[in-house]
Amino acid sequence: MRKVGIVGVGEYLPDKILSNLDLEKMVDTSDEWITTRTGIKTRRLVSPNQAASDLAVNAARQALREAGILAADVDLIIVATISPDMQFPSTACFVQRTLGARNAVCFDVSAACAGFVYALVVAQQFIACSTYKNALVIGSEVLSSITDWQDRNTCILFGDGAGAAVLAPVTSGGILSTYLGSDGLLSDLLMLPGGGSRNPTTHQSIDKRLHYIKMRGNELFKLAVKIMTDAAQEALRRAGLECKDIDCVIPHQANTRILLNMAKRLGLPAEKIYLNIDKYGNMSSASTAIALCEAAKSNHIKRGNIVLLDAFGGGLVWGACVIKW
Ligand code: ACO
Repeated sequence: MRKVGIVGVGEYLPDKILSNLDLEKMVDTSDEWITTRTGIKTRRLVSPNQAASDLAVNAARQALREAGILAADVDLIIVATISPDMQFPSTACFVQRTLGARNAVCFDVSAACAGFVYALVVAQQFIACSTYKNALVIGSEVLSSITDWQDRNTCILFGDGAGAAVLAPVTSGGILSTYLGSDGLLSDLLMLPGGGSRNPTTHQSIDKRLHYIKMRGNELFKLAVKIMTDAAQEALRRAGLECKDIDCVIPHQANTRILLNMAKRLGLPAEKIYLNIDKYGNMSSASTAIALCEAAKSNHIKRGNIVLLDAFGGGLVWGACVIKW
């Protein structure tokens, strides 16, 4: 089996900023409530003509440039998203078309906020087995398109963005271990019930607002702390490492309190948890990808560091990955 590493990262955030003060004018909430309960101050929103693949392409171009790889050299494109351009074709196929990555095999992965880690693990398998050489893995979300802007329980949380990584064979370091898990028994806690074959889009489904994210946040909160802690420990065990070996955790950015609780349980100082939720909110699969890119570009993670990706989301699904950077 070949060793696989991340050889380039990229990100794209749309320009429009929505602040907590803006949200105060839209629903019954306050900057103080949102900041203390979630850690979020602002989030980014797409302009009307931007879809998930447009964000993805911008992030992908940056990642390819950093990796020194041409679009034509990409063998595999996986886009993790729960807000695709369309039900089909896959958003990955739209990315392929815009990039001109004519030699790539393309598909999407649906694993909510753990989508980027899931997609990374899928790509790693293909490269490790020598099926493909260069893979583009992207987390891209336009959550604003599936957010109920009248529901204060959810609309304060989400934002839009995309992050990308190029995976390729490496001679040392790279991905040391991975761990994925799912529990469909808890699928009711977080879902978008409308628009699929269970509840096809009708006037009635729209009147019931079924085409928006529904979340039981408080129940998810407790599960997120436990599951993300367990996932981190399992990925470390599989890498033959301990918590003290971690230089930086790149977690899914759902809530600052979840992440600080997780750090406490792992016995890690809060400074080792990379946070950018204050700027961008929860961008589902894009959150971990963008956090990884920003941490790398700002020197929070340096060559040789032990980095832990850790994500959790609707499904329920979760995943963690230990990387020697
Ligand atoms: N502004 C003001 N008050 C609010 C708001 C708001 N925006 N939203 C809820 N409240 C009120 C509630 O109505 C409730 O009032 P009550 O006590 O009078 O009934 C009170 O605040 C407390 O509500 P809770 O839901 O218990 O608040 P909590 O502290 O749990 O925070 C939150 C809610 C931020 C959603 C938190 O539960 C959370 O982050 N959960 C985890 C989310 C998550 O991890 N999701 C998975 C990943 S996302 C994905 O996969 C797409």
